[in-house]
Amino acid sequence: MRILVAGGAGFIGSNFIRYLLGAHGGWSVVNVDKLTYAGNLANLEDMAGEPRYRFHRADICDAAGIARIFAEEKPEAVVNFAAETHVDRSIDVPVAPSEPYTSSPGTCRSRPTRCTARWGRRGTSPRSLP
Ligand SMILES: NC(=O)c1ccc[n+]([C@@H]2O[C@H](COP(=O)([O-])OP(=O)(O)OC[C@H]3O[C@@H](n4cnc5c(N)ncnc54)[C@H](O)[C@@H]3O)[C@@H](O)[C@H]2O)c1
Repeated sequence: MRILVAGGAGFIGSNFIRYLLGAHGGWSVVNVDKLTYAGNLANLEDMAGEPRYRFHRADICDAAGIARIFAEEKPEAVVNFAAETHVDRSIDVPVAPSEPYTSSPGTCRSRPTRCTARWGRRGTSPRSLP
């Protein structure tokens, strides 16, 4: 199984990737992360040299960029942890007009889903994780 994890350089995403690769010997993971203030590749330093792990610095709001990654990596499943949910930031800037929070309704959240659906039509059928 080839899984694309968005937001994999964050707290939950990095631990999820480590879990997946440790628990499933035949699986590979593509980590797509914008590396915002919250993203830190040091969270996955121990994955350096792991052939089943790949990283792309990309914004899930960039539909064309995400579509390119889907075409290149051909993921069979997508798990999205990409978000900007820091409480202090949400108080200072509830919604940034030019760059909406990933976790805000609409806009970004639907784009990986649309890419997934498109790839599902072109490639393999989306399916549940075993
Ligand atoms: N941490 C918790 O205890 C907790 C508990 C329940 C739910 N959650 C939810 O789980 C999700 C992940 O939480 P976390 O604590 O790992 O967050 P985090 O802030 O540690 O990580 C978020 C990651 O998303 C990346 N990111 C942000 N916007 C992006 C974008 N547009 N494109 C690509 N990458 C982007 C960041 O660079 C970062 O690596 C959030 O939705 C959060 O609300 C977290």
